[in-house]
This record gives sequence, structure tokens and C-alpha cells, in this order.
Amino acid sequence: MKKATYHIEKDFKISEVDRRLYSSFIEHLGRAVYTGIYEKDHETADEQGFRRDVIELVKELNIALVRYPGGNFVSGYNWTDGIGPVENRPRRLDLAWRSIETNEIGIDEFVDWAKKANTQVMLAVNLGTGTPQEAGYLVEYCNHPSGTYWSDMRIKNGHKEPHGIKVWCLGNEMDGPWQICHLEAHEYGRKALEAAKIMKWVDPTIELVACGSSSSNMPTFPEWDRIVLEHLYDHVDYISLHRYYQNYGDDVDFLASFVDMDMFIKTICATADYVKALKRSKKTMMLSFDEWNIWYQTNVKLKEWEIAPEILEDRYSLLDALAFSGLACTLLNNADRVKIACLAQLVNVIAPILTQKGGGVIRQTIYYPFRDVSTYGRGIALKPVIKAPVIETKSYGEVPTICSAVTYDEESGFITVFALNIDSEPVEVNFDVRSFGKVELKEHIVLDGDDLNAINTFEDPYRVCPRKERVKEGMYDTFDIILPKLSWNVIRMKNVM
Ligand code: AHR
Repeated sequence: MKKATYHIEKDFKISEVDRRLYSSFIEHLGRAVYTGIYEKDHETADEQGFRRDVIELVKELNIALVRYPGGNFVSGYNWTDGIGPVENRPRRLDLAWRSIETNEIGIDEFVDWAKKANTQVMLAVNLGTGTPQEAGYLVEYCNHPSGTYWSDMRIKNGHKEPHGIKVWCLGNEMDGPWQICHLEAHEYGRKALEAAKIMKWVDPTIELVACGSSSSNMPTFPEWDRIVLEHLYDHVDYISLHRYYQNYGDDVDFLASFVDMDMFIKTICATADYVKALKRSKKTMMLSFDEWNIWYQTNVKLKEWEIAPEILEDRYSLLDALAFSGLACTLLNNADRVKIACLAQLVNVIAPILTQKGGGVIRQTIYYPFRDVSTYGRGIALKPVIKAPVIETKSYGEVPTICSAVTYDEESGFITVFALNIDSEPVEVNFDVRSFGKVELKEHIVLDGDDLNAINTFEDPYRVCPRKERVKEGMYDTFDIILPKLSWNVIRMKNVM
């Protein structure tokens, strides 16, 4: 059997894990909102028309923030269309997704939904067709207590208390030519700077995210990020990154997507640190990886002017979930710089949760690794030292067959190892945890299976779901565990001395 060694050193700290690393995203796109989180005639609908069955599955994911309302949608969105009496709200053409937007759900309803789902809103402003002034009005509407035009309008619309939205995105993917009113880097830098000033004048307690590169494949990456940060460095708290991966036919390459994600993060950090030096700044720019997932972008087929069209409803296989889990580990391993990360998206649209209109709801395969990290990936991210076999990949050369992250929750004493084995053979790993004294092995959760193409369906919703491996009871300072071939593993142990 192949072998690996794995040292966990208590003092090799990367950083405290920010809870917001487990955030997600709901866009007015396809069936994310309408027949996703909201379906007023559904048998589980609450008094506001929100599907309770969906809320239950969202809650299980422990999501800190939900980015809203887009995405590409936001660059053509007039937020005032979504407030006030629903019967007065206009129907609009959504040019981003060639759909019809009814505006039944707007910011007030979404904030209500987020509360019900135990999460908070991260709000994006329109810097495509929108102006800095409209962005400032939105901050006033949401966060100003009362006594002004927009704050009193919120109160009139039924929300006496301010929404208190803390994190705001200065537009979306403005580097992309597909974006409504796309801008060049220096144009975006100027416009976002003026919006940032207004927004922070309205509410100085908010945090702002500047649009960074929408992919590491963009020809403008990383120049876009440098130029944007040269304009915005002193005015924003985060620079965003977006990245989606798909299987182009080479499974091993696909499973090694985490290598690309790691390089992307490191390059953005280097770019931001260059600007820090240039500006003689004391501030270190943090990263908001506010769109990441597996997405088969080459399959996208838009429909013409439908309400809530069935688009971007990728069905995820076990293989997709494995590639996904490597990305989740990579975010944790960069927890010193990545403070926010949004799984894009949450319901129906490239999502872990899939609904049927008028029917049920299921967990897709990627639901499980996300739930694992968001539930157990708490406390401090540690840097493990791993010696593992390597595998040759086309895109990245030699890659270790084990991609892993470790967290230590000092409060509960739990140490959690997350490990993806991309080898088509099992690997026996010798763990060395002597820096903790002794640990008690608690559980070993495994996601694997014989059919990498297996998916969960409404007929067979648990076709792909985690199982428990038996663990050897006792207290150890070293121990061996086998990571099955092509598997995602969560190994939980408790520090006992
Ligand atoms: O998440 C789907 C789309 O991907 C978003 O609208 C856009 O920001 C990105 O290109």
C-alpha cells in the first residue's frame, strides 16, 4: 500500500479561521430565488412565501454571509424596483441572463429570509448602469436608523430597525467584457473610489470589497488587480477573486484544480502586497473569494425572456465533489489572507441544494464537503507537514496525491483533518500529533464510491453521501489511518492532555 506521513504541529498556526470563509451566494438568476428560496404556493411556504424545506437545508450548512443580489445581474439592477408594495413593482428585462425579473423579492424580503436561515447578507451595489450616488442611497436605505428620505422609506416599508449590512461589494466582475457596462481597470478604479467614499460617509462602519479578477484566466489578470488597488487601497477592506473549475476530460487534472486556486490566491496576495509597498501602507489587504465552485460553463444555454428559467442547474457527481473538496482545503490553508469566501451559488443555480418546483429538495454531492468544513473547520487553521506520493498532471506537473487542511478548536479541544486523496489507490497515512501530547480518535467520515459519475437525484437522493469508517478507540500520539482511493475524509480527534 502507498504510504504518507502527516505531522500536525500545534504551533504551526496559519490563522484564526474567519467564520465568513463559509459564506455563499444567491443571485437573481434562474431558479435561485423564484422556486428556489421563494415559492409562495409551495406546501412548505411560510407566511412570506419562503420554502421552509430549503431553509432547513441552508441552516445545516452554517453559512455566515450570503452575497446578494448578483453576480452579473447586479450590474443592470435598480434596487428601488425591489422595494415597496409588491403589486407596484415593475417587471424588467434582466439583460445579464436574458430573463424576466418580477421583483417580487427585493432587499427587504431577502434580509428577512437571511434571518430565517441563520445567516447575514453581503450586499453588492450596481457599478455597471448604477451610479455612486445610488449606491450611497442603498447604504442609507439599509443602514441609516431614521429621519432621512431613504431610511424613512425603509421604515415605511415595514422595517423599523436598520438592516445593519456590514459587508458591501463595489460591483461585480467589472473586468469582464460580458458585464453590463464593463469598465477598464482605471475607469473602475475611479468609479469605485467615488462610490466607496460616499458609501463610507453614509456608514463608516461598513466594510468594502473591490472587484478583483473574475478568473485567473482573464488576460487582464493580475494587472487589473494592481491598477484597481492603486486607486482603492486606502478605501477598501478586501479585493475579490472569482474562480470556477470544470472537468475538461482529464480526471486527475480536474482533481488537482486546488493547485490553480492556490496559485491564484498567492498571486493576488503578492499583487496586493506590491501595492502596499508602493503606498508605504501599514494595512495588509485581505481577500474575499466571493465566487468559487465547480461550474460547467461550457454547457450554459440561456433561454429567451422567461421568468425563473431552468438555467445553470449543474448536477454534481462524486468526482465533482472530490475536486470541490480540494478547493475547500485550499481556502482554509490560506485563512491568513482569505477572510470571506462565497460558495457560488446556494440554491438551484450551480448549487449544493436543488429544488423541484412544487416538489422536493435534495442535497447535491458538493453539499457534503461544504457542510464538513463549515461545521468542523473552526478555530485555528494549522499548517500540516505532509510527505505523500506524487502524481503527474498535465496542467500542474507533479502534484501530491493528498490535499489537506487542519483546524484546531482550542475551546472544544477538537482537531480536525480534512483530506482529499486523488490517488486511484488507498494511501496509508501515519499521523504524528505529539505536539498535542495525546489525542483520542473520535470519527472518520468518508465520501467515496465506486462510480465517480454518480449523482444524487430526486428518485435516489442519497446515492452519494458520506459514510463512517470505524476508528480505533484509544489515546494516541501517533496512529495510522487509511485514506481510501479517490476519497474525501474528515478525521476528528480530541486533545486529551
Ligand atoms: O455565479 C454565476 C455568475 O458567474 C455570476 O453572475 C458572475 O459574477 C460570474 O461570472
